Order: sequence, then C-alpha cells, then structure tokens
Amino acid sequence: MRTQVGIIGAGPAGLTLGRLLELEGIDTVIVESRSQEYVEHRVRAGVLEQSTVDLLDEAGVGERARLEGLVHHGVLLQVDGDRHRIALSDLTGGRTIVIYGQQEVVKDLVAARVGSALPLRFDTECVAIDGIDADLPTVRVRAPDGSTETLECDLVVGADGFHGVSRPLVAPRCRVFEREYPFAWLGILAAVAPSCDELIYARHERGFALHSLRSPTVSRLYLQCAPDEDVAAWTDDEIWAELQARLGVDGWTLHEGPILERGVTPMRSVVAEPMRHGRLLLAGDAGHIVPPTGAKGLNLAIADVAILAPRIVDFLRDGNATGLDDYSDVVLRRVWRAQDFSNEMTAMMHTNPDPFEDRRQLARLRYVVGSEAARRSIAENYVGMPIS
Ligand code: FAD
Ligand code: PHB
Repeated sequence: MRTQVGIIGAGPAGLTLGRLLELEGIDTVIVESRSQEYVEHRVRAGVLEQSTVDLLDEAGVGERARLEGLVHHGVLLQVDGDRHRIALSDLTGGRTIVIYGQQEVVKDLVAARVGSALPLRFDTECVAIDGIDADLPTVRVRAPDGSTETLECDLVVGADGFHGVSRPLVAPRCRVFEREYPFAWLGILAAVAPSCDELIYARHERGFALHSLRSPTVSRLYLQCAPDEDVAAWTDDEIWAELQARLGVDGWTLHEGPILERGVTPMRSVVAEPMRHGRLLLAGDAGHIVPPTGAKGLNLAIADVAILAPRIVDFLRDGNATGLDDYSDVVLRRVWRAQDFSNEMTAMMHTNPDPFEDRRQLARLRYVVGSEAARRSIAENYVGMPIS
C-alpha cells in the first residue's frame, strides 16, 4: 500500500487532519486500532472553542455542531458557597464556547470520510513505524484478520493519543515535561436535564465538582477524587449525595437522574518536545496532554492539525519544508499557553493535600472572582486563542 500521508488514530486530531488534507487533494490513509462503534461512543470532552467550531465549519463538517451545539456566553465559578459569573462574551469582545460532545465531532468526521469513500480502517492497529529519517517511512499495521500489512508514506502523522505507539517510538529523542496531580476526576453522564444553563466549576472543602451538560436532556458531572479511586465502589446515591454537597447553594436544585456512564480520568500534564522527528509528526494527545479543568485537550488537538495541514500541503506540492520545520515551535507555543492556563484552573479549583498550596490557591480563586481584570484573563484563556 502507498499513500502520501499515513495517519495513525481516528480521534479528533487524525480525522480532522484527514478532512483538511482531503480538501487539498492529498491522499491519506487513516488507521484506527478500535472499532467504529467504540470511537463514536467514547465519552470525553464537551467544550468547543469558537475557533474549533469555525474550523469544522470551514472544513464542511460543522453543520450539526452549529445546529445542535449549545452556545454559551459565560461560565460560573463557585467558592465559599457563592457563584460568580465569568461573562466570557462580554469580556472577550463577543467570543463564545459551544457545548457539543467529542464523540459527536468524531461521528461527523467519520460520516464525512465515509461519504467521500476514503480509506479509514477501523480495528487496524499500527504496530510499528520505520524509516522516519528516510524519504519513504513505513507504517506496519495488523489488520482485523491478524495479517500484517505495510503502508509506505511520504509523511506519517502520529495522532494516536496518549497511549499510542508514536510517542514511545520517539521518546529517546524527546525532552518530556511532565506533571502528575494528586487527584483525578470521577465523571458521570446522567439522563437528566441540566440543572443550570451554564457550566459550574465549584471549589468546596470536600473537593472540586463540575456541573456540565451535553444536551437539554443529558447532564455531565464530575467530582474530584483520589488518583486511584475505585469507581465501582461508589453507589449512584453516593455519587449524587457528594455532588449535592459540593455543588449545592441556597435556592438551587441539582436534578438527579439515571447514571448512564461513569469513569475516572487521571490528571496529568505532559509535553513531548519536539513534535517533529524527520518524517513523523506528532499531533494532539500524542504530543501533549493537559488536565481537563481548562477544557483545552480537544481544542488543542484540532488546532495542531489546523496548523499542520497547510504545512504538509506546501511540502508535498512544492517540496517546501519550511512549514514542517517550524511546525513544532509554532504548536508548542500554543500548547504551553494552554498548559499554563489548565494548570492554573486546576490548582485554583481543587483542594490540595499540601496545606500551604491549598490556602494559597483558595486566596487566588477569591481574588479572581472579585477582580474584573482577573476574570477577563480567565475569560480570554477559556475561549481560546484564534488558530494561526
Ligand atoms: P484521541 O482522541 O485519544 O485519539 C487517538 C486515537 O488513536 C484513538 O482513537 C486510539 O484508539 C487510536 N490509537 C491509539 N493507538 C493506536 C495504534 N497503535 N494504532 C491505531 N490507532 C491507535 N478533554 C477535555 O477538554 N475535556 C474533558 O472532559 C476530557 N475528558 C477526557 C477523558 C478521558 C478518559 C481522556 C482519555 C481524555 C479526556 N480529555 C478531555 C482530553 C481529550 O478528550 C483529548 O485531548 C482528545 O481526545 C485528543 O484527541 P486526539 O485525536 O489527539 O487523541
Ligand atoms: C465536559 O463537559 O465534559 C467538560 C466541561 C468542562 C471541562 C471539562 C469537561 O473543563
């Protein structure tokens, strides 16, 4: 098999890149180790920055996000039992965020790719990438029937997420920056109407809680928990009681309903530098992950490939490699901005086992909600920077 760009992973990064290159007439093959059913139902992020929705729109895959996505103009930060609105739009010259599940973005991108009859091979795992320093790197894959095949490419893009094969392959050449957090999130999806029109990030002495949503009938809620929390040890009633305790304020009701899904998300910050190694380019979670408190992971993954796609086109059409040469530097500037913001939000909103840090971050949150300058800074970062 021969293609111009071999893309490993059919997450938001790989699928969006496939679409952007399709629009430029570049051949791609996307291989994905999981099934179509699995990737289309994996519940993860839900907050899209306006520039992410604009990009999906420009690529002709944003129609449903525009129709069904819920446009939000603000978020709430709760501390000391009071809610404070960060007026995102007022503080950023009218920018917004859109609530639309990551799995819906994935469904839209898969549908477009299938509609164009382009190669998207599910249940096909990349088991090796060779020759990234030569002109014709290869991707070895194991097909669903167990046979192996080799894909020859001009370029390989590792969009295979945090647990993929591409980052470990280049790890010896990378400088890896890493931070573990002393907590994780227990997340649920519940069949109940959201209890508030906007997201609520709540800091409570029992720990952080987040009220989010997916649609007018589905709520998404999270609780700060231990990194090794056993999610099976919680009854549904215990989860709701803890959410009530942390999110509750006078005169407001948190509506309860059947829990459809539950899971624990560990919290880490990781950046692997650089993101280009010869003819292998990393994109999305394969190159970096952020803790979810800033809602940046999915948006960063899509921004990476929006920055990468025109650089690939220049290289494959005109042999111009200058864009590929600075891809890593350009992307890493955005990544570190998002790391800083995600770290700040995480530190400020969670209780910390280190008593000094705990008090310091509580003081910071109290300052943020009381200062328009600080709220504007949070708003600017939360709505995200334009992709350029
Ligand atoms: P992924 O979505 O991980 O896609 C990578 C794809 O590559 C996967 O489909 C995987 O199956 C495939 N793959 C892996 N190895 C191979 C291989 N060897 N061969 C072929 N295919 C392979 N972000 C937020 O902003 N908010 C959240 O609430 C949030 N919650 C999260 C919860 C969890 C459990 C996780 C893991 C992440 C969460 N994130 C969240 C982060 C966000 O979902 C990611 O940043 C986003 O998925 C990144 O997209 P991606 O395409 O880079 O990687
Ligand atoms: C979500 O809705 O899943 C969500 C929202 C905001 C975050 C993280 C996750 O910061």
